Amino acid sequence: MRILVLGDVFGRPGRSILFERLRQVRRDYALDRVVANGENASGGLGLTAKAARQLLEAGIDVMTGGNHTFRRSDIIPFFETTDRLLRPANYPPGAPGAGCLVCRPKDGPPYAVINLLGRTFMPAVDCPFATAETLLAGLPADVPVRLVDFHAEATSEKKAMGYFLDGRVSAVLGTHTHIQTADAQLLPRGTAYMTDIGLTGPVASALGMDPEEVIARFRTGLPRRFVVSKAAPEMQGALLDIDAATGKVVTITPWRLA
Ligand SMILES: [Fe+2]
Ligand SMILES: [Fe+2]
Repeated sequence: MRILVLGDVFGRPGRSILFERLRQVRRDYALDRVVANGENASGGLGLTAKAARQLLEAGIDVMTGGNHTFRRSDIIPFFETTDRLLRPANYPPGAPGAGCLVCRPKDGPPYAVINLLGRTFMPAVDCPFATAETLLAGLPADVPVRLVDFHAEATSEKKAMGYFLDGRVSAVLGTHTHIQTADAQLLPRGTAYMTDIGLTGPVASALGMDPEEVIARFRTGLPRRFVVSKAAPEMQGALLDIDAATGKVVTITPWRLA
């Protein structure tokens, strides 16, 4: 089973490259499934219901989220209409939507996706480690393919989660920093791990935004309105080849397409 997991989709450039190329990428790479983090898809901050619907129609099977998921209010009722959009599972009780999904497609093996949010330099949410443990206990035994999008800032927290879940899930893949890291690996008990899978959007930028306003904010300390970069978009992520019978990742490959 081959799954492509894409890093944070950023603004119109990120959406456009997916609309234009994802169908062909699915064929070229013989992908069974595509999972993508969509927390920055609208203007670089948040995700509107329209963008979410279009991205799910463009060839993304499951879309995950992060600290910006709830920034656009019209996404809240959208959660009622689909189970293919996740938000971090460790938001406090009562948050709209869900953070864990078991998919049983007619045309392939079942798989589960879990979305978690880190707590270092992040909003105050429940413990992602305890939440992961609870969710794993509830997953059906006949679904060994289990992907975790750990949306977190600190490399230490991400590595800790990787080792915490090692041998219990297929992959722990980091998102949120928008910078693809060079540490794709199989942990000692077989879980695939990568600290951050990168950005689907304008890479030659300050994490997706035009650098000018970002520089001004750093230099003055004053709030600035950031503008989505006009740089050419790339797709970045991790390509996983998985033994669907055991859930073990055979290979994890950092992936990018300009
Ligand atoms: Fe992000
Ligand atoms: Fe984020």
